Amino acid sequence: MEKISFSFEKIFNKTPDVCCFAPGRVNLIGEHTDYNGGHVFPCAIHMGIYCAAGKRNDNKLCLYSENFSDEGIIEFDLADPNLRGCWADYPLSVIKALSAFGYDLPGGADMVFHGDLPDGAGLSSSAALEVVTAVTLRELYSVPITNQEAAIIGQFAENRFIGVNCGIMDQFASAMGKKDSAVLLDSDTLAFEYAPVGNAAVVIVNSGVKHSLASSAYNQRRRECESACSDLRVPTLCSLVPEEFEERKHMIGDEICLRRAMHAVYENRRAKDAVDALKKGDLPLFGSLMNESHISLRDYYEVSCEELDYLAEEAWKQPGVYGARMTGGGFGGCTVNLMQPDAVMSFTRTIQTGYEKRFGIIPEVYIVRASDGAGRTE
Ligand code: GLA
Repeated sequence: MEKISFSFEKIFNKTPDVCCFAPGRVNLIGEHTDYNGGHVFPCAIHMGIYCAAGKRNDNKLCLYSENFSDEGIIEFDLADPNLRGCWADYPLSVIKALSAFGYDLPGGADMVFHGDLPDGAGLSSSAALEVVTAVTLRELYSVPITNQEAAIIGQFAENRFIGVNCGIMDQFASAMGKKDSAVLLDSDTLAFEYAPVGNAAVVIVNSGVKHSLASSAYNQRRRECESACSDLRVPTLCSLVPEEFEERKHMIGDEICLRRAMHAVYENRRAKDAVDALKKGDLPLFGSLMNESHISLRDYYEVSCEELDYLAEEAWKQPGVYGARMTGGGFGGCTVNLMQPDAVMSFTRTIQTGYEKRFGIIPEVYIVRASDGAGRTE
């Protein structure tokens, strides 16, 4: 990739004032728990979004993405910022969110973006775009926010202006990731701790199914969880441990809401158990919890699809694989696989051959380097 500062110079005929990077993420376990007051365990990955920016003194925002170069420079007037229904809505929404948090920018900005995350693959390109925007503007205008606040502002932008009611996991992982570690986050309190991923290889397989219909189904899942919560008379589903849930579950009137709640409550327990297993070096236990997570997402939460099921189920049969599951919101996207490093080659060959035979495309495989969260690159 050409350096993002060179791209900026080409587009805007000047050198940028700052350059930043925000990573995507892969979630190891704890899926659809982050808006239910539960735990998640993602790590930031080496792929993400780069941004170079320069100040403007005319209150205009001029945005260019190398990934959407056909659309050219998209210009907004910050005095009257209206969304356009394109990629540039994300950075604009972050500016609107900064303003809602009391941080009005003293001027405008020119910004160039380049991402190397596969689009629509569930590796959080949206969150990376939000976080890289927040962090770049912070650096450009000395906005007094921490990386954690940048994550919160990114989530607010997505909830309020983009209209996806996501939890905090993706933005948090992108902003707060740590090299060689995953982060256990309690989404209720935002307390977090890092745990090294150790000697296992983390391998992502991209089903190639774009999760484009995901946002409406995602919001629907959230509503079902809220309905279960109100039947159970608890603030969040994950405020109940499985034993308490079993005693009260008859209070949930609707069968579908009951299944959603089952997933959230048990997935929260699995996430915590998995991190304990990792700390003890018990990778086989960590892996079997990943497998259970997939089954629960498939059968109770119903956010998997045929392709993801195939990838997970085939992975379970491979030698040296501790565990495999769909990762992220679902309805397409990727699986995450934890395995012995020397199993990666034969795993990749087998899964690609089998998937091509069944679905007609060779899935991309990415070997993840758990990475640091967002920050300046130069
Ligand atoms: C999406 C959301 C996250 C989280 C996951 C599911 O990635 O953005 O907040 O809810 O789905 O775990």
